[in-house]
Amino acid sequence: TADRPLAGRSLVVSAGGTREPIDPVRFLGNRSSGAMGVALAEAARDAGAAVTLVGANLHVPVPRGVETIEVETTAQLRSRMLERADADVVVMAAAVADYRVDGVSDEKRSKESWGDAPTLTLALNPDILREIAGQPRSSLVVGFAAETEADDDALLQRGRDKLARKGADLLVVNRVGHDEGFGHVDTRVRVLDADGVVADAAGSKASVARAIIDAIAQRLAAPTAS
Ligand code: C5P
Repeated sequence: TADRPLAGRSLVVSAGGTREPIDPVRFLGNRSSGAMGVALAEAARDAGAAVTLVGANLHVPVPRGVETIEVETTAQLRSRMLERADADVVVMAAAVADYRVDGVSDEKRSKESWGDAPTLTLALNPDILREIAGQPRSSLVVGFAAETEADDDALLQRGRDKLARKGADLLVVNRVGHDEGFGHVDTRVRVLDADGVVADAAGSKASVARAIIDAIAQRLAAPTAS
C-alpha cells in the first residue's frame, strides 16, 4: 500500500563506523555516528519492512521494533551482513574501515615496548558492499558514498563511478565535511541508479531517510528491478 510500501519485505542495514583494534585498549576509528543508518532502519520499519540493523559502535540510540546486532570491527560487520545478505534489500550505510591493523598486539602497547617512533602496518579490508553486490543474489543492494568533494558535478561523478565499481543497484551520494553529514544535522542526498539520479532530497536525516526508502520501494516495485 501507499504508506507501507515495504510491507512483507525484509531489509538489512549497516550503520555506524567500524573500529580496528591496535591493542586491547586502542583502535583506529572514524567519526560516523550511525545516525543515517538508524534513520533508514526507522524509515524502513515505518514502511512496513522487517528490519535488521547491524550497528557498528553507534553514537545514537537503537530504534524500537528493529532487530539490532551490535558489532565493532569490519570482520564482525562483514560476517553479520553476509549472514543476512538474502534479505530483499541490503543497505550498506556504515562507514567501513578500509584498513585494519596488521599484527594486533595481545598486550597493551607502552612507550617502553613501542619506542619513540612506532609504526603501524595496515592491511586492506574486504569491501563488503562489493562482495555482496557481486555474489549471485536476488536482493536489491544499496551503497553509500560519503564524499568531501565540494564541486557538485565531481561529487556526482564519484557517485556514478562508485555505483559501477561496487556493482550496487542504487548508490546514495552525500557530501560530508567538518560541518556536514556527520551527526544530527541537515543533509542532502542524491540516489543514483545506472541511468542517473532517481531521488534528490534535503532536510533532516529522518526526512532524507524516508526519501531513500521511497526510492528503494519504487525500485522493488518496478517490473524491471535488478
Ligand atoms: O569506497 P567507499 O568506502 O567510499 O565506499 C562506500 C560504500 O562502500 C559504503 O556503502 C560502505 O558501507 C561500503 N564499504 C564496504 N566495505 C568497505 C568499504 C566500504 O562495504 N571495506
